[in-house]
Amino acid sequence: MQPTAIDALLQETRVFPPSDEFVKQANISDPAVYDEAARDYEAFWAKHAEQCLHWFEKWHTVLEWNPPYAKWFIGGKLNACYNCVDRHAQTWRRTKAALIWEGEPGDERVLTYGDLHREVQKFANVLKSLGVQKGDRVCIYMPLIPEAAIAMLACARIGAPHSVVFGGFSADALADRIRDAQAKVLITADGGWRRGSIVPLKRNADDALRQTDSVQKVIVYQRIGGDYTVNMQDGRDLWWHELMHNAPLTCPAEPMDSEDLLYLLYTSGSTGKPKGIMHTTGGYMTGVTLTAKWVFDLKDEDVFWCTADVGWVTGHSYLVYGPLSNGATCIMYEGAPDYPDRDRFWAIVEKYRATILYTAPTAIRAFMKWGEQYPRKHDLSSLRLLGSVGEPINPEAWMWYHEHIGGGRCPIVDTWWQTETGAIMITPLPGIVATKPGSATKPFPGVFAAILNDKGEPVGANQGGYLVITRPWPSMTRGLWGDPERFIQTYWSKYDGLYFTGDGARQDDDGYFWLLGRVDDVINVSGHRLSTMEVESALVDHHAVAEAAVIGVHHDIKGQGVAAFVIVKEGYPADESLKDALKQHVAQKIGAIARPDQIFFTADLPKTRSGKIMRRLLRDIAEGRALGDTTTLADPAVVQALKEKYEGHEE
Ligand code: PRX
Repeated sequence: MQPTAIDALLQETRVFPPSDEFVKQANISDPAVYDEAARDYEAFWAKHAEQCLHWFEKWHTVLEWNPPYAKWFIGGKLNACYNCVDRHAQTWRRTKAALIWEGEPGDERVLTYGDLHREVQKFANVLKSLGVQKGDRVCIYMPLIPEAAIAMLACARIGAPHSVVFGGFSADALADRIRDAQAKVLITADGGWRRGSIVPLKRNADDALRQTDSVQKVIVYQRIGGDYTVNMQDGRDLWWHELMHNAPLTCPAEPMDSEDLLYLLYTSGSTGKPKGIMHTTGGYMTGVTLTAKWVFDLKDEDVFWCTADVGWVTGHSYLVYGPLSNGATCIMYEGAPDYPDRDRFWAIVEKYRATILYTAPTAIRAFMKWGEQYPRKHDLSSLRLLGSVGEPINPEAWMWYHEHIGGGRCPIVDTWWQTETGAIMITPLPGIVATKPGSATKPFPGVFAAILNDKGEPVGANQGGYLVITRPWPSMTRGLWGDPERFIQTYWSKYDGLYFTGDGARQDDDGYFWLLGRVDDVINVSGHRLSTMEVESALVDHHAVAEAAVIGVHHDIKGQGVAAFVIVKEGYPADESLKDALKQHVAQKIGAIARPDQIFFTADLPKTRSGKIMRRLLRDIAEGRALGDTTTLADPAVVQALKEKYEGHEE
């Protein structure tokens, strides 16, 4: 984050206490809950694990903590799918809407809890009939359609960990994830809709499968159909609808051990290789169920809309597992916010009378730019609570959201968390905590955070430092798939026994947390994590590139954009058409989210004498700051020349 933005945050003084009306009806409104959780966090989590989930067998030990390894609710048996589906389908909620889905072209479906119950059982039987057993990994590469959730829940039902890969990722990215997880089955669709075009999911899947050999069967859902045909490989590729046609109707939910793996989800770290974040069953379900209930104040009457795709952790925790475990009604929308027009979100809110909206600052900033005439066209009076996630929300965007979407009456919950944390960690409880625009406020009850300096000492109020979590929490990741070393190295080696988040933060005089962005080589583009090295590898993979250095730069809408400094090989023209080709190449290697915003050709990169690229200096150049310390550079002239060239650029 730029220093100017930090200064602006330091000066933010507006405070928004919860209204009496909200407090009166809130699921949780007694501030004593914070003290209760602080006094005995194990007892706190155990109480709620018992109250908010159905256990086939109760645990014998709440927590075993051998840093960095935690086990929660040891000996407990439960099933995530049973908690999200069966227990509601056995009550009056059988006929209650679980998923209200809208496709980008305007098609609609409503699935009740009864419908979900039938579909997940049938699909679980399909998976079993293809030889999927407990513990086998299943990869899901789907558009945002109900079948994506059905596939996830069916996997959970039989104890096969899923690995969902975002449908916007490329064939190469999919291949990397399939290979790392050694997935046995891939579930995909012929295609998906995005801004009126077809995303060729099956074609990408075919390309990915040519690079991997673990997948034995591919299940293809027909989302597009009509004239759109896809290649179906004999003996390997099977149509979803044909398999479902004859699938038996009942399939019992497998009693899973609390610590059995529920899913893997790949996310970017500081190196080029994505990490498979592991989440287990009991702790994760406890975390997402309780946070969904308290942070979003979920009630049976609510229509909850989390706009995230299931390809990201937000979609896992707050589109599928958290709200469904609470028996809530969820909206799922397949497409883009500006298709066919820029009021699509508001049309959806009005049409389904959404009561809670959970979206990302990047979307809010785009709405701001498009103008308030779009939300004004629609009746948004059903909304009663708003949420934000994925990146720091700037106070202007917060205020705009508050006024133009929330009509000045809806509390805003700015929720800080990560793929690794599984569930929301720092957030207001909307019936208790007064909010301040731009602050995620306080750790959730039972979560303990601190801000430390390099030496591991707590920093004082209003001083920036590293955000750490000081005690274990139920939904914490249990590690990185196949890479225990990296797990320790990344999160547990900076401070002994404390979880290092990779984020900078400060606390104000009231103890409120203000998140300041990543402190490592991870960049956050539109709320999505990318590693600078991942993009660099994609660039150097192009035949014209000798070397590349990538940094995140401030971007008004996306939060951060990707800037690349590229050294071109001898004999290739460093021109506009090469820039376009490189942008295209990165999008094809990783996915459109990684497409560089700016490319600068350079003859040299600033390096230390040991050859390490000094990204810090590139950031100084890109953000127009005075250059920091250059004494360790092998050749200080390089950075000066680069700065001058950059300042004269036209992009
Ligand atoms: O830098 C923080 C930022 O997103 C990172 C986690 O990214 P990911 O694992 O993809 O999960 C995103 C959705 C939970 C964090 O390390 N981040 C997430 N939420 C916020 C945030 N930064 C500031 N404020 C937030 N509310």
